[in-house]
Amino acid sequence: MSLLITGGTGYIGSHTVVELLNTNQDVVIVDNLANSSTKSLDRVEQITGKKATFIKADICDKEAMREVFKAHDISGVIHFAGLKAVGESTQIPLSYYHNNVSGTVVLLDVMNEFNVKNLVFSSSATVYGENNTSPLVETMPTSATNPYGQTKLMIEHILFDLAKSDPDWSIISLRYFNPIGAHASGLIGENPNGIPNNLLPFVSQVAVGRLKQLQVFGDDYDTIDGTGVRDYIHVVDLALAHLKAVAALPKLPGCTAINVGTGNGTSVLQIVNKFKEISKVDIPYQISPRRPGDIATVFAEAKLAHEVLGWQAERDLTDMISDTWRWQSENPNGFE
Ligand code: NAD
Ligand code: WQD
Repeated sequence: MSLLITGGTGYIGSHTVVELLNTNQDVVIVDNLANSSTKSLDRVEQITGKKATFIKADICDKEAMREVFKAHDISGVIHFAGLKAVGESTQIPLSYYHNNVSGTVVLLDVMNEFNVKNLVFSSSATVYGENNTSPLVETMPTSATNPYGQTKLMIEHILFDLAKSDPDWSIISLRYFNPIGAHASGLIGENPNGIPNNLLPFVSQVAVGRLKQLQVFGDDYDTIDGTGVRDYIHVVDLALAHLKAVAALPKLPGCTAINVGTGNGTSVLQIVNKFKEISKVDIPYQISPRRPGDIATVFAEAKLAHEVLGWQAERDLTDMISDTWRWQSENPNGFE
């Protein structure tokens, strides 16, 4: 039996594939390479000494997805495939709704057809919207502030409805906080196209000289130093949460949303200072106006993951930044 990993050549997917291969799980990856390259597959093989089966296909292509399920004995799916840039989603919302929401419906349809009813889904802390106060708890009301967030919220609604309609489904929706870091080997890591939107890829590209300086979006928030506070989570810890979730599916019918965070908040300037300390490189920055849509503080209550999955984050901020720096300094241009 194999696990199907959609989006498995991407940032979080590739780290999860490493951990799955390390536990001798057979893995089939489906990715359309919209935001990744097959170079990550070579690196995954270099790290693990094992190979995943790779199929270049789009999850929106129902016939192609049927072929995948026909050709492989799939026991369950970890569904990472999706577009994820918040700003871009406000420019081309239809692409986001099509790719993320319609693509997921196609995937679920085909899973239903082949009677594969175990799913772990990549959700996001973005579903908590802007009206809840951290620590964010799974029972809080959800909302979305941009099309990307809407797609995650819509998919969660679809998953809850599906699980309600058919008791054979077991679904875990993992709500990631802010994934950063890279594999300790320095061989795989985050490889964004163009100018990064997220803090850590931006800081690390400043550190290697690809970008001139960081813009710190606001220093007048009600936080420890006025800059935004987030719950950064090491991508390898996040990958391991997926293995725990897959293991928990058989005893967890229905659809369950679970936070994946550390429960700790770190400010932008704390990140910058930690990065400077570890890399021994200066990170020039300038304070700029707040970024529209940002909120002051976001961090998880991380209890449920511990209770239900037996998972908790084990890597601290030093590990996260050291691993980010190793990846970026050894691969200044990513996989290129
Ligand atoms: P990523 O872009 O590196 O990986 C996503 C992968 O999905 C890419 O390899 C891309 O080529 C593939 N893909 C996109 N649309 C596809 C389609 N229609 N068919 C097949 N493959 C397709 O992103 P990531 O950071 O690894 O994120 C993985 C998942 O986690 C996404 O669903 C994202 O929304 C979610 N998520 C990410 C973050 C984050 O900050 N990175 C936070 C919360 C949730
Ligand atoms: C972190 C902090 C910024 C860039 C986003 C998505 C969210 C989820 C994770 C997918 C904030 C500040 C950033 C910069 C800065 N993705 N910042 N200068 O906004 O918490 O979450 O990624 O689901 O949906 O919205 O992450 O890394 O963009 O920002 O000062 O150049 O860094 O203001 O305080 P965010 P981020």
